[in-house]
Amino acid sequence: MSSLNNDRKIILAALKNGYHLTEEALEILRRLEDPIRILNILIEHLKKTDPHRVVLDAEFVEMLIRQTTKLHESQPIHEEESPIYPEVQIIQHYPENVAIEGRLEEFYRYFHSRYIKLRKILEERGIKFVPLSEITRMRKDQDAAAAVMILNKKDTEKALIFECEDPSANTTVFVPKKAGEVFTKAEMVLVDCVVGMKLRKTNNAILVQDIIQPDVPVNQKHPSLGPDAYMCLISDIHIGSKNFRKDLFESFLDWINRGRDGEVKKIGYVALCGDLVDGVGIYPGQEKELEVVSINEQFNIAAKFLSEIPERIKLIYLPGNHEPVRKVLPQPPVSGIYRKILENKRELIFISNPAKILIGNRLIYLYHGQSLDDLIQAIPNVSYSTLHENIGKILEVMLQTRHLAPCYGQNTTILPLENDPLVIEDVPDMLCTGHVHVTGVKSYKGVLIVNSGCWQEQTSFQQSSGLKPTVGTSVLVNLADMSTKIKFFS
Ligand SMILES: [Fe+2]
Repeated sequence: MSSLNNDRKIILAALKNGYHLTEEALEILRRLEDPIRILNILIEHLKKTDPHRVVLDAEFVEMLIRQTTKLHESQPIHEEESPIYPEVQIIQHYPENVAIEGRLEEFYRYFHSRYIKLRKILEERGIKFVPLSEITRMRKDQDAAAAVMILNKKDTEKALIFECEDPSANTTVFVPKKAGEVFTKAEMVLVDCVVGMKLRKTNNAILVQDIIQPDVPVNQKHPSLGPDAYMCLISDIHIGSKNFRKDLFESFLDWINRGRDGEVKKIGYVALCGDLVDGVGIYPGQEKELEVVSINEQFNIAAKFLSEIPERIKLIYLPGNHEPVRKVLPQPPVSGIYRKILENKRELIFISNPAKILIGNRLIYLYHGQSLDDLIQAIPNVSYSTLHENIGKILEVMLQTRHLAPCYGQNTTILPLENDPLVIEDVPDMLCTGHVHVTGVKSYKGVLIVNSGCWQEQTSFQQSSGLKPTVGTSVLVNLADMSTKIKFFS
């Protein structure tokens, strides 16, 4: 229908009931998804509350929309119609009280655990590994494979040189730049990762013949149907920041309550992957960029917003680097006073970062994504300014290395627990992250990978690094077939 026809219908609907619409009021109604239906609701309400009014101006129409919306919210129509969706089962989760003493042995134990877990994944590929100590004793032209952790990577004029180790020994191996496909694979090998290497002894060196990443198996997923429900992924809302796009987040809340697309009525879960609030004292000079300088107040505002997400939807919340919890991974769930503030307004499922959950038969890793900063530095040819094209490729590296934070000792701090909690031990149906404020969706060997964008305009830091955030988006995932839709809000 043309916009002129549409306008005429709106004006006639008002006139038929004895009301005159101003041009500005028409403009407001024109922007609604179903203006005639809304206008009729407004008129019905108006006849009861203000029977003598004949002119509908913009201010009055806006006020009426707000009032009637509240009336409709209080009607439990959707609640009665809501199907019952599977409960969220938390499979792996990290509480607050995991303590370390900071001894060297704890770090040794941590890396040993990382090595053993990743070696086991590599062995599942059917490769037979020998200890590195045997490789160093090989005769000229002998071949063998080893599972090694990369201690150092050096780029020289003619070769990439890796210093590697396993529990038996450490040694140096070479990948000549003329090695073609092997060199391409070698470029993607990151320090602190565990890989399989097929090695050959030459006169005076050990050459890499092939590199095997732990990776996920090809087409490993059974094409079974999951629950007939949608999961809506959001993150990085940053309430309290001057750059928080309250208007867009309100549009999102409006949509999740009143959206008319088929999917919205079938949303059973919202996963909020960290940075709900902007926090306080997160980086030097942050106070200049804060609209709300009290962390309690930030949570009060957040609680009010989240309370608008319909109760029928299960709301899952994990912390990010802006939440008031331990910064070291794994981060415990938000707790104490902040949890109480949120829970006073609405029920939430508080989980750690990262966490592994199961919904029906869908296994999902939820992770804020702090290590993405390190991966952007470590992976060749990616940068903040090219994130829109590369976010999928970067997330793939987590699956290829089977680790959520493959590079150790950079920006991402990790608690050296006895069992490395960041190894992706089970192949998930979906890996969801946030943190870098750029929306990206990709399928990698049957695993859906999603980064869910943000609700905060470009910060000064992002401007200096050339990062253009995707502001005001959510990603909808159909858990039945894992198809996705990106929803943009304006
Ligand atoms: Fe963020």
